[in-house]
Amino acid sequence: MSLPQWFTLRADDSFQLGPRLFPGRIWTASGCFSYGLSGHDMKAPGFQSPYTGLGAVVTKTVTPQPRSGNPMPRLCELPTGAINSIGLENVGLGAFLSEVLPRLEELEVPTVVSLAATVVEEFSEMTQRLQEKAAGFKHWHGVEVNLSCPNVAEGGHDFGRDPATVAACVAMARAQLPDRALLVKLTPNVADIATLAAAAGNAGADAVSAINTVVGLEVDLSTGRPVLPRRFGGYSGPGILPIALAKVDEIMSKADVPVVAVGGISTAEDAMKFFALGAVAVQVGTAQMRDPFTAAAIVRELSGD
Ligand SMILES: Cc1cc2nc3c(=O)[nH]c(=O)nc-3n(C[C@H](O)[C@H](O)[C@H](O)COP(=O)(O)O)c2cc1C
Repeated sequence: MSLPQWFTLRADDSFQLGPRLFPGRIWTASGCFSYGLSGHDMKAPGFQSPYTGLGAVVTKTVTPQPRSGNPMPRLCELPTGAINSIGLENVGLGAFLSEVLPRLEELEVPTVVSLAATVVEEFSEMTQRLQEKAAGFKHWHGVEVNLSCPNVAEGGHDFGRDPATVAACVAMARAQLPDRALLVKLTPNVADIATLAAAAGNAGADAVSAINTVVGLEVDLSTGRPVLPRRFGGYSGPGILPIALAKVDEIMSKADVPVVAVGGISTAEDAMKFFALGAVAVQVGTAQMRDPFTAAAIVRELSGD
């Protein structure tokens, strides 16, 4: 693909974000590439693995205790993407620190750990435990605080809607993370995302990740009922690209904080649209679940090779 003249970045160049140098600008999004442990033995023409050239893998969100997630079905595919209601199923911080993170370090996966909690103070405890375990790790680049998951009945849902609470969560994590990047994942399901982004930046976040999924619902016409047991889920994939572009643009124009863009990216062209708006990096979510080489292919196309 010939790249437009205005596009002068190289997706595989390292760049500084807060205290960390990230190895590239194309990342995978939380929850869409598991913990970054699987697929290392997968091959495709021209790629050593789906991780080739990635700037970071944002892990599945980890909570203080293990969670089994929401009742099935949890995922509904649509022509324009998917609606999910996974409910933050994860192994919990203890198992993550003892079993997952050391293996990510061994595999040299550039890692951003996504964290969620139900009490503000837990962000302090979780980041402190991370820092204690992984202070010497070279490939752990930072934390993405997930304040925005729309399909969990408790906790995170409210954190991301109030600027003062966003600031409090950021301050808790920042105090424990002097030498790692701190990102805040924002929900698009609010009237004024820029104010929340500004609150995160003013409280010490190095960047915001925007956007998480958009509230959605699908109806099963054979039963006349919503497909998902909890009715609503998080809509993602190509259908939300224009919404993500609009939210990122709103943040870029009103808040003075770097943006890592996420939402609807499945091609190099999609990614470039966010770079055109000023995003410092992008994350690939749902498209990565359909084809685990999507992000690596975008790196290759946007590296001028
Ligand atoms: C199945 C699934 C699970 C997800 N799990 C998480 C999660 O654990 N934490 C989080 O912050 N975002 C989660 N997300 C949201 C994605 O990281 C991303 O913000 C969203 O899907 C929009 O990007 P996309 O359109 O490229 O998928 C999940 C999305 C999907 C589809």
